[in-house]
Amino acid sequence: MDLGLADRTYVVTGGSSGVGLATVRALLDEGANVATCGRDAERLKRIGEHERLCTAVCDVRDADAVREFVRSSAEAFGGRVDGLVNNAGQSRMKRLDDTTEDDWRDELELKFAGVLNPLQAARAYLSASDAASVVNVNAVLAKQPETRLITTSAARAGILNLSKSLSQELASDGVRVNSVCLGLVDTGQWTRRHAAADSGLSYEDWQAELAADRGIALGRLGRAEEVAYAILALLSPRASYITGTSIDVCGGVGRGIL
Ligand SMILES: NC(=O)c1ccc[n+]([C@@H]2O[C@H](COP(=O)([O-])OP(=O)(O)OC[C@H]3O[C@@H](n4cnc5c(N)ncnc54)[C@H](OP(=O)(O)O)[C@@H]3O)[C@@H](O)[C@H]2O)c1
Repeated sequence: MDLGLADRTYVVTGGSSGVGLATVRALLDEGANVATCGRDAERLKRIGEHERLCTAVCDVRDADAVREFVRSSAEAFGGRVDGLVNNAGQSRMKRLDDTTEDDWRDELELKFAGVLNPLQAARAYLSASDAASVVNVNAVLAKQPETRLITTSAARAGILNLSKSLSQELASDGVRVNSVCLGLVDTGQWTRRHAAADSGLSYEDWQAELAADRGIALGRLGRAEEVAYAILALLSPRASYITGTSIDVCGGVGRGIL
């Protein structure tokens, strides 16, 4: 099936690694124009060059920098933005007694600014598109909190709630808003945790133990590409009647039925 993404323009935050990078590559493969950002110029450079790709060093918490990133991205591709993937971010492995005021402030700032800054910067362009779609990359934690990730779980729940409000608020402008809720996906986040754990296990054995410990029905971590395909499906004009919903991409780790 032709997803209808070719020649359209998509902004993906945090495209230098993991899910964001897989999404950038999948969109380029579909013939779309893509703009992406990250904080580290070297990591962005490693994506490689492509005539339909532009990159910028930009921290999603900085509203002015995000506005300039989105403006210059739209300018590079004929003054349009058809979709936005709010992906940049990370989680915080902390229990209540380990958290500080700064942990709570930083967590909420990153999660909320990571959605609101790009959205506000892209809003006028999205409203002008005939097939505008926003995808917020979230986590199953939003629906199924874990005490070992207490700040991230709470912030994720807030973002899922916000996504629903945004889908209602922006529907009259023709902008759809949906979420993908990730379980455990094999990306930089997990390679960093494997290194920090210093368990003596190979990365493969450590992952297998992790999958068993967390009760992942499919018995393995997900691959970034598997998330990217779900994101592309929601970005596609073919998903024109889907808004205000979330898709779990989690290998069955989610226990809820909603
Ligand atoms: N992997 C999982 O198991 C999992 C599970 C649930 C949810 N998620 C969420 O899915 C998203 C993608 O995660 P991932 O696993 O693909 O992570 P990743 O491999 O660590 O990639 C994160 C990307 O975001 C960028 N980034 C981080 N903070 C940023 C900021 N403040 N401003 C701009 N860019 C920023 C990073 O580049 P720089 O560091 O250079 O800025 C990188 O490109 C994140 O929001 C994450 O929390 C992941």
